[in-house]
Amino acid sequence: MKAIAYQKFGNTDVLQRIEESKPSVQSNQVLVKVKAVSINPLDWKIRKGEMKLMSGSKFPKHTGVDFAGIIEETGSAVTNFKKGDEVFGAVKNTMKEGALAEYVAVPSALVWKKPVHINFCQAASIPVTGAAAVTALGKMGNINSGTKILVNGATGGFGMFLLQLLKQTGATVTAVTSTKAIDFANKWGANSVIDYTKENVLAQKNTYDIVIDLSGKWVMQMPNKS
Ligand SMILES: NC(=O)c1ccc[n+]([C@@H]2O[C@H](COP(=O)([O-])OP(=O)(O)OC[C@H]3O[C@@H](n4cnc5c(N)ncnc54)[C@H](OP(=O)(O)O)[C@@H]3O)[C@@H](O)[C@H]2O)c1
Repeated sequence: MKAIAYQKFGNTDVLQRIEESKPSVQSNQVLVKVKAVSINPLDWKIRKGEMKLMSGSKFPKHTGVDFAGIIEETGSAVTNFKKGDEVFGAVKNTMKEGALAEYVAVPSALVWKKPVHINFCQAASIPVTGAAAVTALGKMGNINSGTKILVNGATGGFGMFLLQLLKQTGATVTAVTSTKAIDFANKWGANSVIDYTKENVLAQKNTYDIVIDLSGKWVMQMPNKS
């Protein structure tokens, strides 16, 4: 089968199309014919060597965590899926395995049935960011209508889910986005929106109970105290 892999850390030009064997299925696994994948910051951070402590430096490395597709085969212990089911999911070992391949073999616990009203591309965008948003919400503790939350980088993959989950809590959410994404922030439930291309959020006097930075840019912008 065809897959995408790389032999050294670097930019997208290190990615190569390779031929390798179709994975065989263990008893607890399903084999999925991949129809769509999504790319997350995690994928390029690993590819650039920014997560070497976790990924190690052995090559070739495969890439991609999220996928959606059709079940081709089920392991002997799998009872909740059958050949032909439309599913989405994530590879188990995000540091070694890769969803950018014609087929992936994954534990059935990491696969969900694709809702009929979303397509394969939409389904493939859910696992990493959706799970992260649910985890982040859980770590925020008790949130109510009096809680003021600032989400920086609010309209990326992670923020898209987080804004909609926060909307359900009734919290007062300020979303920081670029100009092009203001409409999305409003649609997904922000109470107010700050355009980071026009205003410096860190220079404002507003205070918040919770601040979550999904842009990864603020560390560099913080004033040096030394
Ligand atoms: N630990 C986990 O399990 C986990 C899971 C998922 C994600 N993450 C991490 O969470 C972060 C966000 O992930 P993501 O998938 O949402 O990434 P993403 O889709 O690339 O979103 C990042 C967002 O940051 C915005 N942004 C860029 N520069 C900015 C600035 N100077 N100020 C404010 N916003 C800015 C971008 O907006 P514009 O495009 O409009 O500029 C974009 O919407 C990444 O660091 C990722 O690695 C962690």
